[in-house]
Amino acid sequence: RAKVAVLLSGTGTNMAALLYASRFDDSPYEIVLVASNDPDAEGLALARDENVPTFALAHRGMDRTEHDAAMDAAIRESGAQYIALAGYMRILGAEIVSRWEGRLLNIHPSLLPKYKGLDTHARALEAGDATHGCSVHLVTPELDDGPVLGQLEIAIRSEDTPETLAARVKFAEHQLYPRVLGRYVGRCYDPDWLLQRVRELALAQVETE
Ligand code: GAR
Repeated sequence: RAKVAVLLSGTGTNMAALLYASRFDDSPYEIVLVASNDPDAEGLALARDENVPTFALAHRGMDRTEHDAAMDAAIRESGAQYIALAGYMRILGAEIVSRWEGRLLNIHPSLLPKYKGLDTHARALEAGDATHGCSVHLVTPELDDGPVLGQLEIAIRSEDTPETLAARVKFAEHQLYPRVLGRYVGRCYDPDWLLQRVRELALAQVETE
């Protein structure tokens, strides 16, 4: 099974969704480390109670490159082959991002490319959108800009506030992330994924002819 490190800064509900999904026999990944830039993060305590190895390093007083490098060292030490950002509220520098290129995923609470950055729920409501949702994407040096691996769309209700909408997007995130991560890391063994890729490649071939 592919080894995954999860990075978080907050409550860690996405980490929990990833972890619990990994307990199914057919999960193509396992969580080998949960790491945080906040030693008091709730998600870190949860991981500890679930007997998952943890690592914490407060970023205060450290520059970004130095902090990234220490996180990176702990991640490599854990044997992780992939990193899943799950509410890691610190922008990663170019060095760590390029080192993990293609193996660093993030979940973002909007239907990218809409609403990169913060306050996505309030922005979707202000725009009068009919739907909202979440995206899992590969991380590139540009914020919330990498290739999208999967999305889940949900309805915006007329009575929604940023809080009620955020809560329902979270439900969607918990469905989306384990599935997309599993598909991505297990892609070599996934016949559906291979078939899809073969079709895409055949289509690209036809289009260039
Ligand atoms: C999630 O909604 C995630 O999409 C968001 O932080 C929350 C973490 O919640 N991430 C970002 O906004 C990254 N730009 P959690 O700690 O309960 O998983």
